[in-house]
Amino acid sequence: MVAKGKIVWISGPAVKAGGMSEAKMYETVEVGEDKLVGEIIRLTGDVAFVQVYESTSNLKPGEPVIGTGEPLSVTCGPGMMGTIYDGLQRPLDAIAKKSGAFMARGISVPPISKDKKWRFIPAIKKGDKVAPGTVLGIVNETPLVEHKIMAPPNFAGGIVDLVVKEGDYNIEEAVVSVRVDGKKEDLKMYHTWPVRRGRPFAERHDPDIPLITGQRVIDTFFPMMKGGTGAIPGGFGTGKTVTLHQVASWANSKVVIHVGCGERGNEMTEVLIKFPELIDPTSGRPLMERTLLVANTSNMPVAAREASIYTGVTMAEYYRDMGHDVVLVADSTSRWAEALREISGRLEEMPAEEGYPSYLASRLAEFYERAGRVQCLGSPDRAGSVTLIGAVSPSGADFTEPVTTHTTRFIKTFWALDTRLAYSRHYPAINWMTSYSAYVLNADKWWAENVDKERTKLRVEAYSILQREDVLKEIVRLLGPEALPDEEKLILDVARMLKEGYLQQSAYDEVDTYCSTTKQVKLLKIFVDFYKEALNALRGGAPLSAIRSLPVIAKIIRARFEISEKDLNRIDGLYEEMVKSIKALTAKEVPAVAQ
Ligand SMILES: Nc1ncnc2c1ncn2[C@@H]1O[C@H](COP(=O)(O)OP(=O)(O)OP(=O)(O)O)[C@@H](O)[C@H]1O
Ligand SMILES: [Mg+2]
Repeated sequence: MVAKGKIVWISGPAVKAGGMSEAKMYETVEVGEDKLVGEIIRLTGDVAFVQVYESTSNLKPGEPVIGTGEPLSVTCGPGMMGTIYDGLQRPLDAIAKKSGAFMARGISVPPISKDKKWRFIPAIKKGDKVAPGTVLGIVNETPLVEHKIMAPPNFAGGIVDLVVKEGDYNIEEAVVSVRVDGKKEDLKMYHTWPVRRGRPFAERHDPDIPLITGQRVIDTFFPMMKGGTGAIPGGFGTGKTVTLHQVASWANSKVVIHVGCGERGNEMTEVLIKFPELIDPTSGRPLMERTLLVANTSNMPVAAREASIYTGVTMAEYYRDMGHDVVLVADSTSRWAEALREISGRLEEMPAEEGYPSYLASRLAEFYERAGRVQCLGSPDRAGSVTLIGAVSPSGADFTEPVTTHTTRFIKTFWALDTRLAYSRHYPAINWMTSYSAYVLNADKWWAENVDKERTKLRVEAYSILQREDVLKEIVRLLGPEALPDEEKLILDVARMLKEGYLQQSAYDEVDTYCSTTKQVKLLKIFVDFYKEALNALRGGAPLSAIRSLPVIAKIIRARFEISEKDLNRIDGLYEEMVKSIKALTAKEVPAVAQ
């Protein structure tokens, strides 16, 4: 029985409908004569509280509300890559074509084309067993993404009766026929999955493979892992969006999902224009061939924003299930939380801190819990990951507000953007004292095994220089730099070199924008060993002023953008030059060399 009720009350995106005793929690409903899409978010007796994903102006009490029997779901199949969706997985360009510049209400467009033919290459044959997640065949969705057509996770399983030959099919054509308990069931190239339920997997793996982002401060000091969780909180204009873009375009993941939540229309437009122009660094092809966007600007209906992060993460899990590494960035989760607050307020729920509903924390948890590196269901054996990174934009850069504090409970990596650093144009403005990553030791192990055994030692020593500077800064503030002995002044000098030559990284410099793991270790070694050599020289009698005026210092600081990935051996040359020029300061012939 489907629920058939009537609207009794309307407040913005929230609607109450009576006569809904047949309805189920989280069921989608058609609201009003225009059949607007809505979702039941609370049921009290026969009254359903519905959040409506489209503008409710003109809606009147008495209009019908009809249940669909289905939860809010995404359609999973080939054709998603490169698409720009709204929070309900409606392709924006198809909607625009159908309704003109302004989104018409009640419009229904299939999330992926039902007509487009895809070359299906079967991966199974008659007589094979099909279980949930079994790969039925392969479609080359884009030149960058191999799309595995899988049996749905909730498929009962059975024996293959018939498989089509390799050929071109649309998603509505049956490609595999399976005998399930004596009955025949057809499988197509797509299935649907409810957005609020995580897709199942066989087993969770430990997060022991880092997501290499090519951003030095992240990879070296506050690493992210494949399948990990992270937040990037920061005040207005501190670099959240730029950093997320850097991570999305450079990280060694296969698929990128960018969820734009309620940012100002023009900022989202920037994303919509910029992303299609980006080039994938490893293949030289358009990045959109492995990216999909979920866009909800602040002028779109607020409830669709609430759904958008679940829509995004469900699509991320689908690509994970193929065995891909997926990175999802959400910009910004604060705007998402504000949507939650607005709807909760409309429903006259009891507010908790700062007007957010009491379930803010559990909703954030439900989102971040869907990250992970997992063994996928079905054969062949494969592992995939979903990494979740959310920007948080606390007003006034106040990290004690509810969205930031609750988020920190569920994430493992915290890249704290600092307004003062951004103001002084230190980018990325990630504060190295207040940021953290719970993955540091896992990452150390991977770097030692895969890049350089010495790297952990270098990381620890470099960070200790930064920590000591942080303490010394206080003394300098009170007493001035002259109060410090030379050895401590040297710490300040090397910390400054590390900040300018290592932590800072320009997203817009062709060379500096990405830093490989090898380059990161080589650069780090120069700074750390510069400190050691200079300290020795100081103790051997060289004056600090002589060390400070070494021309090699400027070269070391500029190496990040002057030495490209193609000629990293120039860093080795620079290293030798550094050692030699410092040693020369304490050699007997100092005056002669210094000339
Ligand atoms: N890594 C970087 N390299 C160079 N410039 C940067 C970098 N990060 C940030 N910037 C500078 O900071 C500006 C603001 O960054 P961004 O738009 O990412 O901030 P935001 O925190 O997303 O702002 P909002 O609060 O408006 O969303 C950029 O336009 C750019 O000039
Ligand atoms: Mg931004």
